[in-house]
Order: sequence, then C-alpha cells, then structure tokens
Amino acid sequence: MSKKVIIISSSPRKNGNSDTLAAEFEKGAVFAGNTVEKINVRELDLKFCIGCQYCQTHGTCVQKDSMNGLYEKIQNADVIVFATPVYYYAVSGQLKTFLDRLNPLYPRDNKFKDVYLLASAADEIEHTFDGAVKDINGWIECFDGVRLAGTVFAYGVNGVKDIQGRKELKEAYDMGRSV
Ligand SMILES: Cc1cc2nc3c(=O)[nH]c(=O)nc-3n(C[C@H](O)[C@H](O)[C@H](O)COP(=O)(O)O)c2cc1C
Repeated sequence: MSKKVIIISSSPRKNGNSDTLAAEFEKGAVFAGNTVEKINVRELDLKFCIGCQYCQTHGTCVQKDSMNGLYEKIQNADVIVFATPVYYYAVSGQLKTFLDRLNPLYPRDNKFKDVYLLASAADEIEHTFDGAVKDINGWIECFDGVRLAGTVFAYGVNGVKDIQGRKELKEAYDMGRSV
C-alpha cells in the first residue's frame, strides 16, 4: 500500500552525510511506490517557537513563516523521517527548532505512526547517537501510538562527502523501500 512519507533533512550542508542518507531513503521509498516529499530545513524561513501556546487552542502557529504550509502535510503523512547531523551529542539545533515548531500538531488528530531517524557523526564511540535518539523519542512520546520504527547511524563521517561508498547508504535505501 502506498504511503505518504515526509522526510525532514536538517543539516545546513546540502549533499552532506545525513542529507545523503535522507536522499537514499527517499529513493528507496519512491521505488517502492510511496509518495515522498523531502523538506530541507536549511531552505525554510524558520523562526524559533516563542512559547505563547496559541497553537494549543487555535491549532496553528501565530508566527508567519514556512511552517504554516507544513502542518497539514505532516499531520496527514503516514511516515515521518528525520535526518540530522549529531551536534554536541544531540540533534542539530535546526532540527530541534523544527520539532518545537511542530507544537501545533500536539492537539491535532495526526495520521503518522512511524518515525525514522537517520543521523551522522564524526565520532565512532558507542554512545554517539544516544542523545539524538533521546531527543527524537522525547518528541515521539508526546504523540499517542507513535513509535521510532527504524534508525540508520553513520559513525566516523565528518567531511561533507565522507558518507560516499558507505554501507549505511544502502541501509537507508532499504529502509525507505520497506516503509
Ligand atoms: C556544531 C557541530 C557540532 C558537532 N558535534 C559533534 C558531536 O558532538 N559528536 C560528533 O561525533 N560529531 C559532531 N560534529 C560532527 C558532525 O556530526 C559530522 O560532521 C556529521 O557527519 C555532519 O553531518 P552532515 O554532513 O549531514 O552535516 C559536530 C559538527 C558541528 C558543525
């Protein structure tokens, strides 16, 4: 069955490591017949959440920027994919800002149930991605019945093209195919 898949790629580096994982996931999901949209956070006009909580009673954000056009799309997606570089053992600030700005979805009846996380980092130590997983699970916990359905982590990639030729690209492609 064809699904609606939204990929949120949050690195400032176009065609960098996590963005390339996102592109491979997209290719796999498209190949499998799904409808896929990739949103590049670096291209958005994205303001910080101002904490006014207007969204909790009005269902949308009081601010006027690129997010206003995204809430319905994300609410009605079956699958959400977050791609991020590890910044200080957490998700990128760009992704955290995006997650905070999804607060208008909190009071809504959302369709999405499966969330995927694709991430890259320079380090190769075991706990490199723990903070990013915690960040994403913190967001997931606020939405009933939503789960972290899969992850791809690329350790030891720092230069913008370091991901080329790595097995994690196929892992991301295969994960996209199987959503
Ligand atoms: C501000 C900043 C903070 C970073 N913090 C970490 C870190 O805590 N641990 C780590 O392993 N790599 C860290 N890195 C390296 C990136 O995670 C790594 O280069 C990653 O592959 C970049 O992904 P991208 O190509 O998708 O932008 C950091 C890089 C930047 C720019």
